[in-house]
This record gives sequence, C-alpha cells and structure tokens, in this order.
Amino acid sequence: MQIIKTIAEIRTLVKEWKKEGLSVGLVPTMGFLHEGHQSLITRAVAENDRVIVSDFVNPTQFGPNEDLESYPRDLEQDAKLCQAAGASVIFHPQPSEMYAQNHCSFVDMDGLTKELCGKTRPIHFRGVCTVVTKLFHIAQPDRAYFGQKDAQQLAVIKQMVQDLNFDIEIIGCPIVREADGLAKSSRNTYLNEAERKAALVLSQAVFLGERMAKNGETSADVILSAMQELIAKEPLAKIDYVKAVDARSIEIVHEMKGSVLVAMAVYIGKTRLIDNFIFEEA
Ligand code: PAJ
Repeated sequence: MQIIKTIAEIRTLVKEWKKEGLSVGLVPTMGFLHEGHQSLITRAVAENDRVIVSDFVNPTQFGPNEDLESYPRDLEQDAKLCQAAGASVIFHPQPSEMYAQNHCSFVDMDGLTKELCGKTRPIHFRGVCTVVTKLFHIAQPDRAYFGQKDAQQLAVIKQMVQDLNFDIEIIGCPIVREADGLAKSSRNTYLNEAERKAALVLSQAVFLGERMAKNGETSADVILSAMQELIAKEPLAKIDYVKAVDARSIEIVHEMKGSVLVAMAVYIGKTRLIDNFIFEEA
C-alpha cells in the first residue's frame, strides 16, 4: 500500500487504473482511524477494484474556536489499519497541497445546513462540501463511502452530488459502536475516565428514543423530551441540540412520519460528541 502526498501522483495513478478498466472507491477521512472508518474501507474494498483512503484534517471545516490544532493525528497507525483492511493508497496531502495561498473558491449549500450541526457550526458544511468536491475531482471515484454517524453530512453530500451532477455513487454505512454503546469517534480520545463514562448518555438516549419510536410513539416532541431528560441527569453533559428532522431535507418535524433522523450533539466536558438514529415509518 502506498502513501501519496501530492495531487499529481494520485491523478497519474487513477488514470492508469481507469485505463485498465478498474473501478475506484474513495473513503474520505480526517485520519486517526478506528473501526468506524475501517467498516467503510472494508465495504469499499469489497465493492471496488482499487480503494483510496484520504487522510486529511481539513482546516476549512473547523470554526475559529474549534479543535483544528488539537485534532488527533497518527499516520503510522492509520497506514497499518488501511493496509490490513486492503486499501490500495492513502492520500495524505499537506494543507498547502489542498489549499494554495490564493485559494478562494468554495462549494456551499442553501438547504440542509440550517439545522443541527450546521446551526452551531456555521462554516462547517461549506468546508466539508469544498474538500469533498476537491477529493472527488482528484480521485475520480466510482463510489464514495460515508458513515451514518455523521448523518447530516451524509445527507448533505448526497444532495450535493445530485445538485452538481457528480457521476459518483454515495454509499452510507451504519454507525459502529464500542461494546458499551458509545459511537466510535476520533474525538473519544479527548475524554478522561469520568467523561468516558458520562459519554454513554448519548447512546443511551439514542437507544431510548429508538425504542419509543419502534413501540409506536408518534410524537417526535415526546421522544425528544424523554431523551433530553435522560441526558440532563448526567452532570458532565451539556446539550448542544437534540432534534428530529426529515432525514432527507433536514427540516424540523414533529411527527415520526416517513424517514425521521433524530440527532444530537452533546458536550461532555469540553468535547462535543454526536450520535443519532434514523426511524423509518413502516
Ligand atoms: P471523519 O470524522 O474522519 O470521518 C470519516 C468518515 O468516517 C465519515 O463518513 C464518518 O461518518 C465515518 N465514521 C466516523 N465514525 C464512524 C462510526 N462510528 N461508524 C461509522 N462511520 C463512522 O467526516 C469526516 O471525517 C470529514 O468531515 C470528511 C468527510 C473526511 C471531510 O473532511
């Protein structure tokens, strides 16, 4: 498995693959890979002849007071995981390779980003759409893989691909959790022992909401109140949002009708964690 740092080298390699008629899968990541990322890579390897894992902490999706500098990085470990999972290449550019000094073009979206993480992180999805567009142009994949862990991101990317006519299939993959339920995340590494225990309140609230919906509760507001109450009992937790939205349009809903995304962001100490479930009306 190769580690490639320049756009020119990736382009040359992908051109060779395409000439041979090989299909290409892309797994965009910010590195510090765990089993959640691994599940995306494994699926991509199963469905494509060649797989590129991008490993790039994208500065344009971080707000001024967010964790860009402290975001965990470990290329050596990432390379081991990618190799074991069967990836062909890691694309690991420097920020200056992705963003020239005079870079001034961005991809943004009017809908889908007004609620949830888009509301608390106003420039976040502009950065995500921009870097994912760049990665799509660089890697020219047939398929790209994203986790439902970042459900709004997945919906945003699907919308962007449709709106801007990218000829790329977007594949969503289920949330991978720790044995005790906590959704795997590179940011879990920020948690101390007490916070790690407190963080369980997110998945507990997700499981509670999911159970209520499955048992026939049709009011999203009743479900959200129960989830918020559960989280409020944990002294280390501070709710950013717990909301129910249409899973495609990311607009607020009050009834559990159609396809509903129930999503949350909760601070555990200083660490902001997210979790969610999607309820499909039978
Ligand atoms: P990152 O947070 O590294 O996540 C990369 C991909 O892994 C995303 O699609 C995310 O949803 C998925 N993922 C993370 N944890 C997961 C889990 N526990 N189960 C399943 N999938 C999981 O998301 C980003 O990076 C960036 O925004 C990116 C798309 C790379 C653009 O910079």
